[in-house]
Amino acid sequence: MITLKKSIFRTILVISVSFFPLLSSAQLTKSVLLENGWKFSKGDFPSAAQISFNDRAWQTVTVPHDWAIYGPFDENNDLQITKITQNNETKETRKTGRTGALPYMGIGWYRTTFTVPTVSGNDEVTLMFDGVMSNSTIYVNGKEVGNWPYGYSSFQFNISAYIIKGKSNTLSVRVDNKPESSRWYPGAGIYRNVHLIVKNKTNLKTWGTFVTTPEISANAAKVNVKTKLSDSLVKGFKLVYNVLDSKGTTLVSGSALSKNEIDLKLQNPKLWSPETPTLYTLVTKLYVNNVLTDQQQTKFGIRKTEFKRETGFWLNDKNVKFKGVCLHHDLGPLGTAVNVSAMRRQLVLLKDLGCNAIRTSHNPVAPEFLDLCDEMGFLVIEETFDEWKRGKMKNGYHNFFDKWAEKDVTNMIERDRNHPSIIMWSIGNEVPDQDNKEGYKIITYLQNICHKADPTRLVTAGMDRINSALKNNFAATLDVPGFNYKPKQYFEAYKKLPQGFLYGSETASTVSSRGVYHFPVKMGKDIHHPDNQSSSYDLEFCNWSQVPDDEWAVQDTTAYSAGEFVWTGFDYLGEPTPYDDYWPSRSSYFGIYDLAGLPKDRFYLYRSRWKPEEKTLHLLPHWNWEGKEGQNIPVFCYTNYPSAELFVNGKSMGVQKKSNLNNQTRYRLMWNDVIYQKGSIKVVAYDENGKAVATEEVKTAGPPHHLKLTADRKQLTANGKDLSFVTVSVVDKDGNLCPTATDNLMFKVTGAGKYRAACNGDATSLQLFHQPEMKAFSGMAVAIVESSKLKGNINLQVSAKGLTSAIITLNSK
Ligand code: GAL
Repeated sequence: MITLKKSIFRTILVISVSFFPLLSSAQLTKSVLLENGWKFSKGDFPSAAQISFNDRAWQTVTVPHDWAIYGPFDENNDLQITKITQNNETKETRKTGRTGALPYMGIGWYRTTFTVPTVSGNDEVTLMFDGVMSNSTIYVNGKEVGNWPYGYSSFQFNISAYIIKGKSNTLSVRVDNKPESSRWYPGAGIYRNVHLIVKNKTNLKTWGTFVTTPEISANAAKVNVKTKLSDSLVKGFKLVYNVLDSKGTTLVSGSALSKNEIDLKLQNPKLWSPETPTLYTLVTKLYVNNVLTDQQQTKFGIRKTEFKRETGFWLNDKNVKFKGVCLHHDLGPLGTAVNVSAMRRQLVLLKDLGCNAIRTSHNPVAPEFLDLCDEMGFLVIEETFDEWKRGKMKNGYHNFFDKWAEKDVTNMIERDRNHPSIIMWSIGNEVPDQDNKEGYKIITYLQNICHKADPTRLVTAGMDRINSALKNNFAATLDVPGFNYKPKQYFEAYKKLPQGFLYGSETASTVSSRGVYHFPVKMGKDIHHPDNQSSSYDLEFCNWSQVPDDEWAVQDTTAYSAGEFVWTGFDYLGEPTPYDDYWPSRSSYFGIYDLAGLPKDRFYLYRSRWKPEEKTLHLLPHWNWEGKEGQNIPVFCYTNYPSAELFVNGKSMGVQKKSNLNNQTRYRLMWNDVIYQKGSIKVVAYDENGKAVATEEVKTAGPPHHLKLTADRKQLTANGKDLSFVTVSVVDKDGNLCPTATDNLMFKVTGAGKYRAACNGDATSLQLFHQPEMKAFSGMAVAIVESSKLKGNINLQVSAKGLTSAIITLNSK
């Protein structure tokens, strides 16, 4: 048994005393976000690092900023004539939308100015970048401070030697995105936050606090804290520790003299889990010669994780299966620019799905995302790379691996090891080095880096070349073997591998377009339809993948498999498989939710399995098949009731019961022979005793009549970045969704906010997200409204030619 007992913590910098009334002493660390007043231009400007450079003609932007999301979409953007070997392609084809058909490539410059606040006069000044896409070079007052190639890493530079105190300082950032460097839309520019941090020269190092809970019982948890100081030679220091609960009450305190480590005993610990995401805060104070010199807050949770032979993953002594999704980092129509409210919405939607786990494919994420996962309760695998030494993309990470891998892995772990949500580190995804007979040595190299930075967590990787990986020691070397799309090989792997447990690091890759159904209904791989859409009967998949049911059938007979991470929770920009070489098509079809965050039918299939505590009863397809009268339109029901009866216009089509006939009948109820006539389809669900307990009905909608608006949140914060996602539905006069409506919707926002973007989930749409119009797709779209810094009402008006328009009023305070 491999046991990991630990607690996990994250460090937050003390931003200002007024934000943290608990810390009533002096301002010790000052951290400011460099958000507003940046100048930006695409193109290369050799003298743009200089203070005197005139940037007045450049665009004014706020950071986080993604320069490429504003388009335009063009099939020539990052056009790739290539053969994707990991997709089993044997000849080169013309790939148009692989990176979203958006202009992320090329050089861009950012400039801003800042003044440095004073802490004590003997200060250390640091610039911290949460991530810049990519190959960034940082200049302060005309001098190069450093560079960082990998766009997903956080990095920091001590700029004390470069700044002018009391004066304006110039910060310039050059970004250089190479074409053919990514397999999905990477975004472009300073897409995550930038922090200016000022501390006393002798300080508690950023990322230097590491808290673990090596012993946990019902009565007490041992909280071990290791603290790094910026000056390892400092004498006569004292560290004072307080652990607070969520209300700010001190639960336990301790102090250590000239020692960097302490054990605290926390009585009656409340354990962190997806259902009970309890967090504690550690406040660390550094005194040097009795003078308070720095203080830091570190959030943490207490939980125990283990992998056991035969039964897989255990959390707090409970056997837990991963009901997980893989996520790329883009936020659909908002691109990659970090926005907490957009990330929170994704996680709210995933909770509704019954999802308990996320794999951050295939790179480190924004720190805010992990804060949300801690707070809302998700198990996270944070991943590093999509390539090691052998490349997938001409300009991919393999060009940097030898020189940078250790730094990138270490930065990720030191930044994130205190998050209770993180349960494993992933060192790679489907790296071609799996085929290399020396590949296992790279695992040992990376795994050692991880274990050194964090001895409490196991290390995993997602593998697709299972035959090689089983033979060449690759799979056996990993702490936890992750399988991408290979449920049939679980049995063989279980016999051959020493670990005795495994999990589906990527599963399904079923493709569908929300609300689109193709006939005749058939199951198959790599299916293309003339409309560049995939059918929502959830029977279409890739030549390397499966439908959900085929993965589940294996999971349900292998207790040692610890669950799955579905590819993917949300559609993302780029990788429009199976239409990589068809135009137009610029975003994925894999999502359980579409690019707008609207649920596809598959949402209900997963929910019926993943959320047993709530009932799911969903019918598909829609019932507007004008012109197909008298033809066969199969009807499926996704439900966690054991059986149901279908009625077409009141006439019974018989009872279907889940059965072991095949993998589909095991998890879905299907009426394959239903003759279409307009009217309604209705299911009556029966419980285990055959009692009718619930119904669901889909009616044939009449012509589009008016618009219906539903906001995910009506109350916003007036901070200039809070978002409300408003779902727009085209409905008939009785309020039924018009499932084939494509009306062009026009958006107008007035009051204390502005129109931000819209999306309809159509992977073939070339309408720009930030323009205030978007066609409905399968009758729906989502409009995003952003708060300003003003308090008051915000009105969103949506109109479409020939339809009664609608207004929704939000409030911001
Ligand atoms: C996997 C890969 C993912 C994505 C997926 C699509 O092989 O790891 O990044 O490409 O296929 O099915």
